[in-house]
Amino acid sequence: METEFDTLSVCPACGTQSDAGALLTACPRDGRLFVPLTEWFREDRSPLLGCVVGDRYAVVGGLGHGGMGDIYRAVHLATGRHVALKVLRPDTRRESLLQARFSEEAHYAAQLGGPGTVALLDAGTDTDGRAFMVFELLRGQTLAELLDVHGTLPAERVATLGEHIARALHEVHVEGLLHADLKPANIMCLGALDDTPRVKLLDFGLSRLLSRAGERTGVIAGTVAYMAPEQMTDRPCDARTDVYGLCATLWVLATGRSPHGTGAPRDVLNRKRGAAPVGAETLPPALSHVLCRGLAPDPADRWASAAALAQALQDAARPAPAPMPAGRPRLPARGLLGAALLAAAAGVAIVVSALAPETRPAPAALEPVVVALNVRATGP
Ligand SMILES: Nc1ncnc2c1ncn2[C@@H]1O[C@H](COP(=O)(O)OP(=O)(O)O)[C@@H](O)[C@H]1O
Ligand SMILES: [Mg+2]
Repeated sequence: METEFDTLSVCPACGTQSDAGALLTACPRDGRLFVPLTEWFREDRSPLLGCVVGDRYAVVGGLGHGGMGDIYRAVHLATGRHVALKVLRPDTRRESLLQARFSEEAHYAAQLGGPGTVALLDAGTDTDGRAFMVFELLRGQTLAELLDVHGTLPAERVATLGEHIARALHEVHVEGLLHADLKPANIMCLGALDDTPRVKLLDFGLSRLLSRAGERTGVIAGTVAYMAPEQMTDRPCDARTDVYGLCATLWVLATGRSPHGTGAPRDVLNRKRGAAPVGAETLPPALSHVLCRGLAPDPADRWASAAALAQALQDAARPAPAPMPAGRPRLPARGLLGAALLAAAAGVAIVVSALAPETRPAPAALEPVVVALNVRATGP
């Protein structure tokens, strides 16, 4: 059994404290399981803390919240394995559309087993009517968390990270799925942000089969800042719709700004269709070119696939050195982005100065701008 707990424990029902040895044992007063004391102090402490879901997963902590569900750290009682448990939120349980999406998510996640996606371990509905999914527990930070901590990332890092995310996305497309909800909160970065970052895509709650992504759904769902125009208007989608979502995500990471600003969805959509992304001047030209092409309003003008985007990002991060004119001293070869950033502290300064607090939107403005299930009547 993994031993990750070294804190005191507490019964989440009655607040009785005990030593760490009591973790996961039942409180003699009310039968709830003791959990780490640190979890007791969380602002968003869940009523499920110390409960057993599906007869086998003890909820021991919180991991996050999303559009449909709450995600917990749980322990599989039979093996002691720590897992991520996603439970459909009680307020959404009665909505059949959301329930259907939740079980579709399990179905799609089960199809994906590659290194670039989170692994599904189990799913079901327990006797209390709670629909749940169990995923491998990822130890890392989502890009949303990285944004919260760092504000932005250096352009060179964004290009390298983007290349790895694009390769993970290509895995999803090869399996015949459209992710359809790429954004910082749905991408986890494991380990160090170095030249070979390890990334995992999460949250297949809005995924669709690519073979049917050309069909209209009557439902528009997503987060406006990251949605391609065709997705916002229920037009046919394909792999290039995800290329758009990823490029919007990378734009936010590199500039700290949503590519087409914030505001009412219709206004943002109009800017997506007709205006250049904002903040391009803070990016090295090679990265700006790659991302602007990925954010083209017409899918035909974007990178044709996630694999093509990965290659373009790799080239932007490490382009072949240009031939030097004869007779001049050779400088060590550096990528365009590297040169822009390293040529002088100015490269960094440009990025940083453009991210003065007044130009950087609060994370809340970038994140769940709109995640509304917007059921539309048929029409154009
Ligand atoms: N397997 C996991 N391991 C660790 N944390 C996770 C895992 N899955 C999700 N999370 C955390 O929970 C948050 C919400 O999860 P997500 O699957 O995106 O839910 P939703 O569909 O409700 O948006 C993520 O942004 C992340 O912080
Ligand atoms: Mg999510």
